[in-house]
Amino acid sequence: MTSNANPKYLWWQTGVVYQIYPRSYMDANGDGIGDLPGITQRLDYIKDLGVEAVWLSPMYPSPMHDFGYDVADYCDVNPTFGTLADFDVLLAEVHKRGMKLMLDLVPNHTSSEHPWFLESRSSRDNPKRDWYIWRDPAPDGGVPNNWLSHFGGPAWTFDEKTGQYYLHQFVKQQPDLNYRNLEVVEAMRDVMRFWLDKGVDGFRVDVIGLMMKDEQFRDEPISPNWDGRTPFGKLDHIYTANLPEVHDLIRGMRKVLDSYDDRMMVGETYLPNDMLMVYYGTPEQRECHLPFNFQLILAPWDAAKVRKMVDDYEAVLPADAWPNWVLGNHDQHRLSTRIGAHQARVANMLLLTLRGTPTCYYGDEIGMQDVPIPAHMIQDPPAVNMPEIAHIVGRDPERTPMQWNALPNAGFSAPDAKEAWLPLAANYTEVNVEQESSNPYSFLSYFKKLMALRKSSPALTVGSYRSLELGSPKAQASCFVYERQAEGQRMLVALNFSAREQKIGLSLPGSGKLVLSTRLDREGDVQFADLTLRPNEGCVIAL
Ligand code: NOJ
Repeated sequence: MTSNANPKYLWWQTGVVYQIYPRSYMDANGDGIGDLPGITQRLDYIKDLGVEAVWLSPMYPSPMHDFGYDVADYCDVNPTFGTLADFDVLLAEVHKRGMKLMLDLVPNHTSSEHPWFLESRSSRDNPKRDWYIWRDPAPDGGVPNNWLSHFGGPAWTFDEKTGQYYLHQFVKQQPDLNYRNLEVVEAMRDVMRFWLDKGVDGFRVDVIGLMMKDEQFRDEPISPNWDGRTPFGKLDHIYTANLPEVHDLIRGMRKVLDSYDDRMMVGETYLPNDMLMVYYGTPEQRECHLPFNFQLILAPWDAAKVRKMVDDYEAVLPADAWPNWVLGNHDQHRLSTRIGAHQARVANMLLLTLRGTPTCYYGDEIGMQDVPIPAHMIQDPPAVNMPEIAHIVGRDPERTPMQWNALPNAGFSAPDAKEAWLPLAANYTEVNVEQESSNPYSFLSYFKKLMALRKSSPALTVGSYRSLELGSPKAQASCFVYERQAEGQRMLVALNFSAREQKIGLSLPGSGKLVLSTRLDREGDVQFADLTLRPNEGCVIAL
């Protein structure tokens, strides 16, 4: 195999992105909350995983009503996480190791403690009044329309002092900015330039599709597809999300990025394919380098359904658009909890061998699971606001401290440090980086082999994708098999989604060389006609 250093492709196409939730990765100062110096201490580990780029969830000053997604100053670091000087060290150390650093940009809303909002709410004639979305009460004094907050309740809060309501699509401490005001547009571009000038390599843009709302503030219709799970799902969000105007705004943001070398933007977009593709823009008017593709998180874990999903996505992706895949993030239950520890290996093989950029969530590489949070320790706002559905909407379970070793505090903080901000997993003495590093069959050892295989293989990093029909209906229902091909190299990926042995029965002549099994216990020649996958096994086979 040859190196994947292919000058035709860019870092965000061939590389793997690794998401860090700063509160939970590494606590260097012993206050029970992760910080930037902590992340810097762990960069050699991250480099060793084979990661290309690190994405940090927000580390800006914030009163933490949504754990940093309520930004009180876009151009500084929260003292809990360190200082701007700590950030500069982190950035330099990331670059020294040949990696990239991406920040979370949260343009849709600020914190209610941001100086812009303090000004805006101070009086109706303040010059920044129109930087946010203020509306008069309805004739009966109630909310201006029926728009809902994602985190429960109406999206409007009344401001006694000035007698109007302001819009917030998340908690009331997260007022939405008004992007119909061009000063706001320019202010956010300045924020981007501040970090890009420092050398930051790109942004993950929070709720990118929500930045524009209906100019007439029309009521949203009841959704015909409501499944009753969350109150927010009751409405069809046609006036608060994915408005045509949002695309102009994104094109403007892209222009800022394009005025620098080699930077990128990935948008947070939970959308069906037809709407998702629009977020790439066109060759003349580019938008996101990558609009996040979250289908693997949302899909039922079923071989035939996943195959169809991948095929459908591949089929509609414009020729010049680069695919991407994600298995987990700070808003979703952990992969290993969703589909089980055995299938988590299969899922990672899928993530890292599909065509496109993979994004991995910290801790998934060691098989971390959701940690049950006792009711009195719940911190996440949607879970606090809607306790009856905390198990659905609560995100604390997937945000618990990274498990580094078996010592008290799991190496997340020193053994004598303050108690961590969220509880540790009960099994952290077994599931941790140190333990798994010394076990050649561990999840971590597997993950690293898979990452190395991907990196060394042009077929896996940049090759074409084609899914294969299987010999029997049973295999077809339980397994997903595809081929990747580039530069004369052909790789076959065969994944068994079931807990039963499956004879694949490929109609290919001769044999291939099995280069990686999820179980790490077999390699070498395999006859295609006899190819059998053991329960929950995935294999990569060189043709
Ligand atoms: C999406 C983020 O991923 C989530 O964590 C946050 O609560 C909301 N946007 C609001 O910023």
